[in-house]
Amino acid sequence: MATIKVLDIGFGTGVLTKKLYDDGYEIYGIDFSRKMLEIAKDKMPSAKLHQYDFSKGLPKELENIQFDYIISTYAMHHLEDKDKIKFINKLKKQLFNDGEIIIGDIAFETRALLEQCKIKTGEWDDEEIYIVFDELKKIFPKEDISFTTISHCAGIIQLKNYPNLYL
Ligand SMILES: C[S@@+](CC[C@H](N)C(=O)[O-])C[C@H]1O[C@@H](n2cnc3c(N)ncnc32)[C@H](O)[C@@H]1O
Repeated sequence: MATIKVLDIGFGTGVLTKKLYDDGYEIYGIDFSRKMLEIAKDKMPSAKLHQYDFSKGLPKELENIQFDYIISTYAMHHLEDKDKIKFINKLKKQLFNDGEIIIGDIAFETRALLEQCKIKTGEWDDEEIYIVFDELKKIFPKEDISFTTISHCAGIIQLKNYPNLYL
């Protein structure tokens, strides 16, 4: 059986990807921090990890590779919403037909819930731009996109291309 290819965007120290690596997944990743790359490389010597700024897209070495899963945890909030959308559109092209993008981050189903959390928390980092799912969903009407709440301020966004059959 072919190995499952996973690309991790902003892998950090590889907390998440190391588990997949140990389970035999073929791991690719990008992170712009050299320190993070060194730590992750130590844990996952065969992973193809690249030091690269994802606000510029993907490095050349990854441009022609198709992935089963593209994952990202607690990293996408560094992009402005318009840049997230541009990036997600780019990533979609790198998925196999039945591939999936999975983003776990501080995220809210609606803007009202985000505003509620902002008030409750009392402190907010305005430099971080959190996903509001029902706004994102409108941008991707042709995709199978879902949101799972995991806490009062975090969620998982899963996005699949509809199979060609339904287009
Ligand atoms: C909060 S950490 C999360 C790390 C990991 N995904 C996890 O869940 O443990 C965010 C990571 O994204 C990386 N990062 C942030 N902005 C980036 C960018 N524009 N390009 C590449 N990496 C970036 C940081 O270096 C950091 O390793």
